[in-house]
This record gives sequence, structure tokens and C-alpha cells, in this order.
Amino acid sequence: MSRAAVLCGLGGALPATAVSNEELAARLDTSDQWIRTRTGIRQRHVVAPGEATSDLAVAAGADALASARRTDGNAAADVDLVVLATSTPDRPCPATAPDVAHRLGLKTVPAFDVAAVCTGFVYALATASSMITAGVSERALVIGADTFSTILDPGDRTTRAIFGDGAGAVVLRAGEAAEPGALLGFDLGSDGSGADLITVRAGGSRQRSAAEAPDASDHFFTMDGRPVFTQAVLNMSRSSQALLDRVGWPPAEVDKVVAHQANIRILHAVGEQLGLEDKQIVANLDRVGNTVAASIPLALRDAADDGELLPGHRVLLTGFGGGLTWGSAALVWPELHTG
Ligand code: ACO
Repeated sequence: MSRAAVLCGLGGALPATAVSNEELAARLDTSDQWIRTRTGIRQRHVVAPGEATSDLAVAAGADALASARRTDGNAAADVDLVVLATSTPDRPCPATAPDVAHRLGLKTVPAFDVAAVCTGFVYALATASSMITAGVSERALVIGADTFSTILDPGDRTTRAIFGDGAGAVVLRAGEAAEPGALLGFDLGSDGSGADLITVRAGGSRQRSAAEAPDASDHFFTMDGRPVFTQAVLNMSRSSQALLDRVGWPPAEVDKVVAHQANIRILHAVGEQLGLEDKQIVANLDRVGNTVAASIPLALRDAADDGELLPGHRVLLTGFGGGLTWGSAALVWPELHTG
């Protein structure tokens, strides 16, 4: 029997404030009609002044730990690893994960951040899963959390329409590959030649923070939407197909594809490339927008709560983001207690 990481808890958290398309259109040169037809998004949640990524990560982490306790009876104190996927850490240094672990009462467990923008959660899942199969960890909390509203240009109608804040989390435990919930494989990749397509130019070691930055807008997030759209479709489709070939699932036999929630047109294009029907594709971006590293676990949480994801379902996760980066994971959905 082979050791594997098994999903046993799921949670999420959103900031209290939701901003509708109409509210955005009152402040920016855009419309509910443009945003809905070009992206599929109706509203997004945004953090309040002073609210940070770690606050959402702690709430989602606590929710996932409670779900895991209801599912298999193990206490939060049994968690021995925290991996946080984020590209909007509370501060550039140190990592945000140790603070999140501390505030969750997880004492002195190893805790670190993974930065792969919208692919962050899949990368973090692969990292924690590998640490479990290697025997380094027995029970891991994996969180995806981002607050992109804090790095967007307030005047950029395109990025303001797309991105929302949030956090999603899962608990993984050591188990067997044959069990429902076992992570059956990963496909991961990157292409740094596209690093400028999704970026915050300033604030790192190349273009350093200064008391008076030469151009304040360099501290805002920028994205070149058209090529990103094309690359997202291409790489999520290729990565999904590569993993499905490896685990031996024809696309028609996948029950649910939970892809990074960037744009409903991207989800449909990936579905078309893989020959999927609409009912196989999970979408919650109408309610939350693109929540970056939180996108896939929040979509899982909503699909589980809505009864769309059922025990025994064959589930494919696939993500794409800045870097450029992409990644996919496969599992059979387990019996879980959420909410
Ligand atoms: N309201 C009204 N008009 C708008 C808006 C808006 N919010 N945003 C852009 N427009 C306009 C543009 O200015 C342009 O006008 P023009 O023709 O007069 O120049 C027109 O709409 C079309 O612009 P495009 O950029 O070509 O619009 P497109 O249909 O490509 O949609 C979008 C833009 C939504 C950004 C799309 O390209 C997209 O979804 N890209 C992928 C995003 C993504 O996948 N991100 C994932 C990774 S992100 C990460 O990792 C953090």
C-alpha cells in the first residue's frame, strides 16, 4: 500500500463587504453589462481598511480545521505543517504563514509561504502532499489567501472589475493512495518568459522601494489581459490533459473540473479544449471574482456546500497565474463535513 496525502477538511472566508458591478460602475468608466458579458462576474468581496491577508487566512484555516475535526475527529493541535499560498503577504518580510499558524494556536509547527500567484494553491497543495508522502508531515493545513484589492490601481477599470479578496483552505492527512480524498497526482509548470504579463514592478530587489518612488503606479498590479487569456486557456488545457493521461481518466469520466476562477470565457474555452460539458465545470466567480490563490479552494468549498461535489466524484483541479505558472491535481472526492 502506498502512502498518500488525503483531503479531510475544507473551509473558506470572505471579507464582509461585497462590491457589485453597479457600485463599481458608479465610480469607474465601466458597466454591469460589460463586466458580466466579458468576465461572468457580478460581484467581488474586498477587505476593509486595516484588514490583511492573514486575517482572511486565519478565518479560512479555522474553518478548515473545524471541518477536519468533524470529518475524522482529530484536533487542530495534530496539525504539524502550515503552507500558505499568497502573493499579497501582510508584509514583504517575514512570511505570513508563521503568524497565521501562531494565531490558529498551532504552536511551533513549520510554516512558510508559497508564491505562484493564481497557481499558488495548486503549488502549495503539491508541496504539502509531497511532505506528507515523504514522511515529513502527518497532517497539514494548506491555505490560499489573497487581498488583491490592496495592490490594484484604484483607477484601473479592468483589474478592479476582475479581482476580489478571499481565502480558502484544506486539511491533508497521511493515508493510503486507494482512499477517497487521496491526491493522485500533480502536473506543474512555469514559463518565466511571460513574467512581465502579470506583475507588480516595484518593491522588490530590482526596482526597490524608496521614500519617494519615481512612479507610484509601479507599485500597483498590472496585467496584459489578452495574452494572459490565451496562455491561461492553453496551459490549463495542456496541464489538465497531461495529468488525466497519467491518472488514466478520460475527460468524459471526470465529474467536476475546478479550474482557477479567472473569467467564465476562459472556463468555457478550457472545457471546449478538453471536450467537457458545461455540467462538468464548477463556477463560483459570479459571486467572488478572481480571488487569486483562494480561487480554487473557495470554488471547492462553494461546490461542496451547494451539493455539486459528491463523495466518489472524480475531481480535477487546474490553475494558471503569474510567473507564468500553471498546475493541476486529481482526486476522488471524499465524505467531508463542511459549514
Ligand atoms: N469596462 C468597460 N470596458 C473595459 C473594461 C471594463 N471594466 N475593461 C476593459 N475594457 C475595454 C478595453 O479598454 C477595450 O477597449 P478598446 O477596444 O476601446 O481598447 C475593450 O474593453 C476590450 O479590451 P480587452 O482587454 O481586449 O478585453 P477582453 O475581452 O480581453 O477582456 C479581460 C479583458 C477580462 C482582462 C480578459 O482579457 C481576461 O480575462 N484575461 C485573463 C485574465 C486572467 O486569466 N487572469 C488569470 C491570471 S491573473 C493572476 O495570476 C493574478
